[in-house]
Amino acid sequence: MKALVLCGGHGTRLRPITHTSAKQLVPVANKPVLFYGLEALREAGIEDAGIIVGDTAEEVRRAVGDGSRFGLRVTYIQQEAPLGLAHAVLIARDYLGDDDFVMYLGDNFLVDGLTGVVETFRRTRPDAQLLLTPVADPSAFGVAELDRDGRLVGVEEKPRRPRSDLAIMGVYLFTPVVHEAVRSIKPEARGELEITTAIRWMLEQGLRVTSHVVHGYWKDTGRVEDMLECNRLVLESQEPRVVGEVAEDCQTVGRVVVEEGARVSGSRLVGPLIIGPGAVVRDSYVGPFTSIGPGCVIRDTEVEFSIVMERSSVLGVRRMRDSLVGKDVVITPAAAQPRAYQFVLGDHSRVRIG
Ligand code: G1P
Repeated sequence: MKALVLCGGHGTRLRPITHTSAKQLVPVANKPVLFYGLEALREAGIEDAGIIVGDTAEEVRRAVGDGSRFGLRVTYIQQEAPLGLAHAVLIARDYLGDDDFVMYLGDNFLVDGLTGVVETFRRTRPDAQLLLTPVADPSAFGVAELDRDGRLVGVEEKPRRPRSDLAIMGVYLFTPVVHEAVRSIKPEARGELEITTAIRWMLEQGLRVTSHVVHGYWKDTGRVEDMLECNRLVLESQEPRVVGEVAEDCQTVGRVVVEEGARVSGSRLVGPLIIGPGAVVRDSYVGPFTSIGPGCVIRDTEVEFSIVMERSSVLGVRRMRDSLVGKDVVITPAAAQPRAYQFVLGDHSRVRIG
């Protein structure tokens, strides 16, 4: 069995971060969200992964390499434009051959891993298997319709009037029959070849498509609040570990991780939080659910429930929360008189003034 991992797409909802970075590489507890997925695939016994890449191919390649650090053999497959999930299957035909495969959307985050899901598929071997989970806003997803006995009878992509609250998660298991399905369908309204259409085609052909409702934690990390929420969840379950330097004038409470080469002084750290390698935290408060990336500088600042990515400086900010700060960002106090905000913001930036 192989994996097909999708790392294309533009990530418009995470702009401006995704102007320069792949959305699958935004860090959760200082580790790219994609890495959690690759680890879960390997744990489920998969050794070969094809990664579909688009505009951000270079960055994804640099981060994942040949996959050996995950115990995977990785093959990259270039998609010339984000033409849909079924299009990704179409162009992966040669790579996938006649193997069964898990299609995994690289920006999805699952807490319970994939081992159980893959086992069920191997044991029962339907033509396709979907994972569903109840969500508050089904119209933002593919939506499944079940009959009274819980059998899958229909699927719709981002319906205006959803027939259930069951979203289709970004983990699909397929037998090679899906190749016929993706060849047989036409692009939908948003111009993309939707996997949901291919699944509907399979249902119409009388093929066996099963589904499992999952209640564990799942997020499509497309939005800032989803990223922060995943970050919270991972930090909550990490083991405390202080390898970097924490001066005696500091106070630490709860699950705190301070990585090698990080230096903390004159500060209060209230976990769960992580401070990355080589970061400097001085005269600050770092509160719960915060990830400070490698090489960041945090000074005279209060920050909580936030992700600050590598090499950024946050100086004199009281207080920052619910924030996602990209790489190499500089936030400093402006001149004292007159008091004014001064911004140099990229396209699609969002700032809220307290
Ligand atoms: C895609 C699928 C959708 C699925 C979702 C899960 O949507 O088209 O059916 O529910 O992934 O993450 P997209 O993220 O491309 O909008």
